[in-house]
Amino acid sequence: MGRRIAAKITGVAGYVPPRVVTNFDLEKMVDTNDQWIRTRTGIRERHYADAGVGSSHLGAEAARKLLAAKGVPSEQIDLIVVATVTPDMLFPATACLVQDRIGAKNAWGFDLSAACSGFAYALTVGAQFVGAGTHKKALVIGSDVMTSILDYQDRATCVLFGDGAGAVLVEPVTSDNEGILDFAHDVDGSGGCNLYMPAGGSLKPASLETVEKRMHYVHQEGAQVFKYAVRRMSELAVQILERNGFTSRDLALVVPHQANLRIIQAMQERLGLDDSKIIINIDRFGNTTAATIPLALMDALEQGRLHKGDLVLVITVGAGYTTGAILMRWAY
Ligand code: UT7
Repeated sequence: MGRRIAAKITGVAGYVPPRVVTNFDLEKMVDTNDQWIRTRTGIRERHYADAGVGSSHLGAEAARKLLAAKGVPSEQIDLIVVATVTPDMLFPATACLVQDRIGAKNAWGFDLSAACSGFAYALTVGAQFVGAGTHKKALVIGSDVMTSILDYQDRATCVLFGDGAGAVLVEPVTSDNEGILDFAHDVDGSGGCNLYMPAGGSLKPASLETVEKRMHYVHQEGAQVFKYAVRRMSELAVQILERNGFTSRDLALVVPHQANLRIIQAMQERLGLDDSKIIINIDRFGNTTAATIPLALMDALEQGRLHKGDLVLVITVGAGYTTGAILMRWAY
């Protein structure tokens, strides 16, 4: 049996900074080429934030777009959960900065760190408050400025990521046949060493040495993460479908984390899903970490690929390792 949450997504918005950086632009910055990036990752371009723009700015933009589209005054928001691994600063939380920027004066909030599974974690957490009946309108945001932690001397990581944010509004369900049917998350901390930022926390605070050793950037064992992601995304998808009495044939849409087109396609093949059931936008945005899922939901809506009553599966793997699967009946 699933773990139902009496909450549903009632709105989605995304925001990416305007500056587009293509693979050809990257060719001028690092020893790489468009063909390698396209064939190994599926990425063609990504968006970069300008200096002085933090995750709170992108998150607030996405939130503003969402509230404007829904016609919801910011004072009605009672909770803000922000998933990010690139907070503006270690504290205060990015959620506090977003709360102030959008004038959500009746909201409390906090940040949540689960890397590429961050948005899925934040959705589960935000939805629990709504499902419990204590909150009516939660803003769940995924926002990352990955370019702030990319090492342009490491071509195997710097070409993968982009900047962006997405936000969803979570409200109580009004019928039994909508909203979050089940969620599944797990952690395998033994994989922590395969994708991490070594310095800048309490263990290794910033020093001349940490800067010289380039320890404030993303470090990744790409092949290890790749294998883990393919295996766990597929396993988790099957597990959450089976325990709710579904098969992959029942799905209208899978919204996977966008880390690598080949990871998504391997999962797609294992689940036997045709292209119409997978949303892919890594070609335009790269890996935006906590923002990939809401940006993909935004695209799915804009492309008319999400309808009321659809069975939708969000599926993620991220640093930690962390995983996320959320099965829902789309509510609008
Ligand atoms: O979202 C969080 C999780 N992150 C991920 O899911 C990422 C998972 N990993 C991956 O997506 C892939 O492992 C990468 C895209 C990072 C790398 O792809 P790969 O097929 O595993 O490549 P590799 O690291 O094994 O490198 C293959 C070759 C190497 O050259 P040699 O040693 O075979 O001569 C690399 O030096 O490709 C070379 N290479 C590049 N060449 C041109 C690595 N990066 C680049 C580059 N441009 N940017």
